[in-house]
Amino acid sequence: MKVTYYGHACFAVEVGAKTLLFDPFIAGNQLAKAVDKRAVPASYILISHAHFDHLADAAEIARRTGATIISNYEITVWFGKQGLEKVHPLNHGGAHNFDFGRVKLVNAIHSSSLPDGTYGGNPGGFVVESAEGNFYYSGDTALTMDMKLIGESSRLKFAALPIGDNFTMGTDDAIKAADFVRCNHVLGLHFNTFAPIQVDTQAAVAQFKAAGKQLRLLQPGESCDF
Ligand code: NI
Ligand code: MN
Repeated sequence: MKVTYYGHACFAVEVGAKTLLFDPFIAGNQLAKAVDKRAVPASYILISHAHFDHLADAAEIARRTGATIISNYEITVWFGKQGLEKVHPLNHGGAHNFDFGRVKLVNAIHSSSLPDGTYGGNPGGFVVESAEGNFYYSGDTALTMDMKLIGESSRLKFAALPIGDNFTMGTDDAIKAADFVRCNHVLGLHFNTFAPIQVDTQAAVAQFKAAGKQLRLLQPGESCDF
């Protein structure tokens, strides 16, 4: 599966003919200057929780591309009030079959208020299952035992996990999370964008390697295959 990183926790996965874009935060990211948000493709935009660093560019990209926003109920209602009618609400534990595959909203331990103070529901992660393969994006989260349920139910090609610490899991817990979801291929997210989440990336990659796992860290705009 082709994955393109757009900086912070924003990445896209090509599933068949569709492009799934996760947590768009591009223009406000000083590290993503190489990415032109006006050229980022999307068939669907999946939003893990309501914080600005996960949805700041979602409305604009949805309007330009006609993409459907998939998120929790409260976040889809908030976008609906901005005139975006192509939304699909989920709530935790629920899954839905889309034209590219199945998406399940799963637990995350974090917070989730919208930029204007509106209640943003509970934060989540996504398990995406498709004919091309399955993957998990945890969203911003602590390590949680609930991740073991994902490992029991889905065979994953890769897991996209935060490694930046401070606001989310750091590298140590991300390695445990990869164990819990039974996946040795990890795309690292949510690091270096802000002062409190600076990561020694070479050390993080080495730590994963020592645990028998592969940590991929991409430059904004860079793609790889899982
Ligand atoms: Ni957050
Ligand atoms: Mn965040």
